[in-house]
Amino acid sequence: MALNQYKNMSVAKKEYKRVTVKSLVDMKKNGEKISMLTAYDYSMAKIVDAAKVDVILVGDSASNVMAGHETTLPITLDQMIYHASSVIRAIDRALVVVDLPFGSYQSDPKEALRSAIRIMKESGAHAVKLEGGAEIKESVKRILAAGIPVMGHLGLTPQSIYKFGTYTVRAKEEEEAEKLMEDAKLLEKLGCFGLVLEKIPAQLTKKVSESLTIPTIGIGGGKHADGQVLVVHDLLGMTHEFNPRFLRRYMNLYEEMGKAISNYVSDVKSQDFPNDEEQY
Ligand code: KIV
Repeated sequence: MALNQYKNMSVAKKEYKRVTVKSLVDMKKNGEKISMLTAYDYSMAKIVDAAKVDVILVGDSASNVMAGHETTLPITLDQMIYHASSVIRAIDRALVVVDLPFGSYQSDPKEALRSAIRIMKESGAHAVKLEGGAEIKESVKRILAAGIPVMGHLGLTPQSIYKFGTYTVRAKEEEEAEKLMEDAKLLEKLGCFGLVLEKIPAQLTKKVSESLTIPTIGIGGGKHADGQVLVVHDLLGMTHEFNPRFLRRYMNLYEEMGKAISNYVSDVKSQDFPNDEEQY
C-alpha cells in the first residue's frame, strides 16, 4: 500500500454538516487538522465555503487587503459588520469568526461586550476573535458571559504593530515565550474555543498545542498547530508584494487576472468584443 494511503487512513475525518465551535474541539481530539481562511465578501465566501473550509475568518486584514491601508488599525466596527454580513449571506457550512477591530474592545470590558454584541446581532456571525492575553482578560470574560464564543490571538498581533515596530517572528526569547504560554493557558481557562498563533517558532507552537485541549490555528506557526489559517488573497496569489516564508501560493491570480483584463481591453479597442452573438 502506498505511504500516502496509510496517511489518509490515520486521519479520522468526519463530515460536518455545519461546523460549530464544538466540532473544532472534536477535530483536535480526533487528530483532524482544521482549515481556516479569510473572506471579506459574498462571492469569495461562497467559493471558500463550497470548498469545505472549516472556519471562515472575517479578519481585520480586510483593512489591508480590501481597503489598501498599511495596517489593520483603521478599519472600523461598522466596516467589519458590513464585511461579516456579506460573508454570512454566502455560507452553508463554515463557522464564521469575526475580528473585533482595533479600538472596539481595548478601553473597557463593557465596550468590548457592546462591540461583540453588535457583530453578532448585525452580521449574524458565530464567534469573535480578539488579540491579546492577560491584558484583555476582563473583556474576554464579559463577552463569554454573554454567550458569545471567543477565539484568542497571540504571537504577532498586528493591532499592536506600532508597539512591536516590525512584523518579524515573535516569542523567540524565553521571557516572551513564557508569557505566551501563560496567556494561552489563561485564554483556555476563561473559556475560549480556539487560539490563533501568528508567526512564532514551530517548537513553541508544538508546546502550546500539546498543553491545551482547545485547538490552535497557526499562521507562520509551523506544522504542529491543530489547524492552519491564511489570507485567501495571498493563497490565490492576488496579492504579490507580500512574500513571507510561511506563505504557500496555490495560484498566481495577480498575473492571470491581469492577462484576462488586458485581453478584454484589447478586444474592446479592436472592436472584437462584443461580437454578433454577444448582443441583442
Ligand atoms: O485579520 C486576519 O486576517 C487575521 C489572520 C492573519 C489570522 O487575524
